[in-house]
Amino acid sequence: MTLLPPGGTTPPNPPDNRVLPPGGTTPPNPPDNRVLPPGGNTPPNLPQHRVLLNLDHATTYYGQMRILEGISLHVDEGELVCLLGGNASGKSTTLKTILGIVRPRSGRVLLNGQDVTQWPVPKRIAAGIAIVPENRRLFGQLTVRENLELGAVLRKGESLAEDFDRVHELFPRLLERRSQLAGTLSGGEQQMVAMGRALMSHPRLLLMDEPSMGLSPALVLQNFQIIKTIHASGVAVLMVEQNATMALSIADRGYVLSTGEIVLEGPAGELLRDEELKRAYLGR
Ligand SMILES: Nc1ncnc2c1ncn2[C@@H]1O[C@H](COP(=O)(O)OP(=O)(O)OP(=O)(O)O)[C@@H](O)[C@H]1O
Ligand SMILES: [Mg+2]
Repeated sequence: MTLLPPGGTTPPNPPDNRVLPPGGTTPPNPPDNRVLPPGGNTPPNLPQHRVLLNLDHATTYYGQMRILEGISLHVDEGELVCLLGGNASGKSTTLKTILGIVRPRSGRVLLNGQDVTQWPVPKRIAAGIAIVPENRRLFGQLTVRENLELGAVLRKGESLAEDFDRVHELFPRLLERRSQLAGTLSGGEQQMVAMGRALMSHPRLLLMDEPSMGLSPALVLQNFQIIKTIHASGVAVLMVEQNATMALSIADRGYVLSTGEIVLEGPAGELLRDEELKRAYLGR
């Protein structure tokens, strides 16, 4: 289901970082799975948004338990998309399906139009997908620097100097702490390492699983600023977040999962105004 305002043919104001068509009030061609607004003739000469990731009717099981029920979603190049939903709705499983940690029993994962469903995780990382996993999953006995290096492990032989500079520019704290064991860092610092490590692989698509988890309100804000900066540098982001209001406030679009099915999807501005969503998820 796509959320459109009742009778609504007028698109919401796109966020600043969206490409506007010439004359700028007309929405771009919606992807195939979107419902066209009533009477919506799409004018010619609109910019084509290239789909970077397409999850196509993915059904994922753990053993006998069906977790994802044929879900479809897409992320365009350079887009910031958030995936919302209650606990155990399948959000992390969706990211794991995209990265290849689990394989869907049916359905496909397409990256840039190429079917990567059978590809192992390292091949997908080499092709441009990176993840900031739930609970960060750092190597606690390794230093900050070594954890960051692991993010670039598939880029053997390449100089990492510029990458370290970029990560340290985003997270100056990590330069100070480069020799500290990751396990002794604060939660906020560990989150910085997890994000920095993901960036070290030069992702085109960054998957983030609850990046605000366990952070103080001040750090959550800082974290969202950094996500915006990463996104502004051209990286497409698919972000799972419990903090729906904040996630939607920086996202282009959002999807809502409920027990393994996508029950709502649409532009972030429309989701923010959706009464059903407000009751269920917003205001947290
Ligand atoms: N490795 C696993 N083996 C068996 N069941 C699993 C496994 N991982 C997840 N599940 C189950 O799949 C369902 C969805 O889990 P998932 O982690 O995708 O939810 P989530 O939406 O990310 O939840 P949360 O908001 O709590 O992180 C849950 O019922 C969970 O118990
Ligand atoms: Mg999860």
